[in-house]
Amino acid sequence: MSAGLDKALSTAQLNGLPLRNRLLKAATFEGKSPGGVPSDDLVEFHRRLGEGGIGMTTLAYCGAEADGRVFEKMLYMHEGIHRELAALIATVKATGAAVSGQLAHCGNFSKNREFQGRRPLGPSAQFSPIGLSAGMPIAGAMSAQDMNTLVNNYATAASFMREVGFDAIEIHFGHGYALSQFISPLTNRRSDEYGGSLNNRMRLPLRVLTAVREAVGDSFPLLGKISMADGKRGGIRPADAVEVAALLDAGGIDAIIPSTGTSSMNPMLMFRGQSMAVGLLEQTQNPLARLGLRMMGSRLFREYPYQPLYLLEDAQRVRDRVQCAVAYIGGCCNAEDIDRVMTAGFDFIQLGRALIYDPDMPKNLAAKVDYRNGCSHCNRCTALIEAPGGIRCVELLPQG
Ligand SMILES: Cc1cc2nc3c(=O)[nH]c(=O)nc-3n(C[C@H](O)[C@H](O)[C@H](O)COP(=O)(O)O)c2cc1C
Repeated sequence: MSAGLDKALSTAQLNGLPLRNRLLKAATFEGKSPGGVPSDDLVEFHRRLGEGGIGMTTLAYCGAEADGRVFEKMLYMHEGIHRELAALIATVKATGAAVSGQLAHCGNFSKNREFQGRRPLGPSAQFSPIGLSAGMPIAGAMSAQDMNTLVNNYATAASFMREVGFDAIEIHFGHGYALSQFISPLTNRRSDEYGGSLNNRMRLPLRVLTAVREAVGDSFPLLGKISMADGKRGGIRPADAVEVAALLDAGGIDAIIPSTGTSSMNPMLMFRGQSMAVGLLEQTQNPLARLGLRMMGSRLFREYPYQPLYLLEDAQRVRDRVQCAVAYIGGCCNAEDIDRVMTAGFDFIQLGRALIYDPDMPKNLAAKVDYRNGCSHCNRCTALIEAPGGIRCVELLPQG
């Protein structure tokens, strides 16, 4: 076995949390929580990953508050789901895997019809194409009071997550969600101390990090996922993201996950491979939506050819800049990819689509040194987020 693969499969610690290996399941909102309640199917999805040998799984989406959800069927952290969430976590932990939760807020865009006459809030007022279909085309700008409430809600959600049994929390600072909206100059056009320079734009994300840290204590593992690029002119670039990572490191994060792209502006930058429009066309019955996808699909979902380890070069700049742990993410599928990432000095690897294709990947890597994962990066799993039953690998299971 290569030294890198050996390292990946060996035990590790994250701020004192013992992990049986360095392979972590990436956050992939599964769409398996109808009514905002974890379903048996969601439990089984994560239990299966635990059985397959993953070091730690990540439950996404864990909304910081009810209004922080994009869809009604996303979880938000509150007592009403304590029993179901505690049972899910206990079931997964019984397999030997640790359980992290991705703590997130959608900020200025939402399709959640429970907003009922109110509108989503972000750093600055703006048009929200995603909200259009749910009758929420305009987002408002947060007041100082709104920002205080947001910070408090993150802290309350984090306390709940610790209490309910999560081993770690991954704060979402990327992909165009609320904290990333503050970080990006494209969505943050504020003229107060929360807008302008990068230090100002990081003020609210760092307040959230501090509040979450105070809520969970020094010995609780906190990860932070960032975007290294917005994928739109005038947005965050890798050089800015290196400084974002450094500020989070200084602010007390335990591990950075340098991802890229935005769900709202340029999702394909995050995934690479076949356009999501293909899968969405397969799922969408509404004739108007189909027409829109045919006309706009190539603009909304730009084509970026898939390459193994497509974020390695930029992630290496983050690795070189910070003291905290770094979890590599993006196009890591085969034994040789894992070897390269580990040899390059990363502490952990987050795996998304490869584990949706093969939940036994960690066990299979241990059994077969030249393991190759069969995910074709068709990205049709992503189109199932809103479908009844949620995501699955369409190449493995019959369509239904
Ligand atoms: C179906 C699906 C859902 C996803 N949902 C989330 C999410 O809720 N939060 C997040 O940060 N990233 C999400 N992602 C992005 C992944 O975490 C990851 O960044 C991306 O898939 C690239 O990693 P990979 O090449 O290992 O798949 C999702 C990806 C997929 C395929």
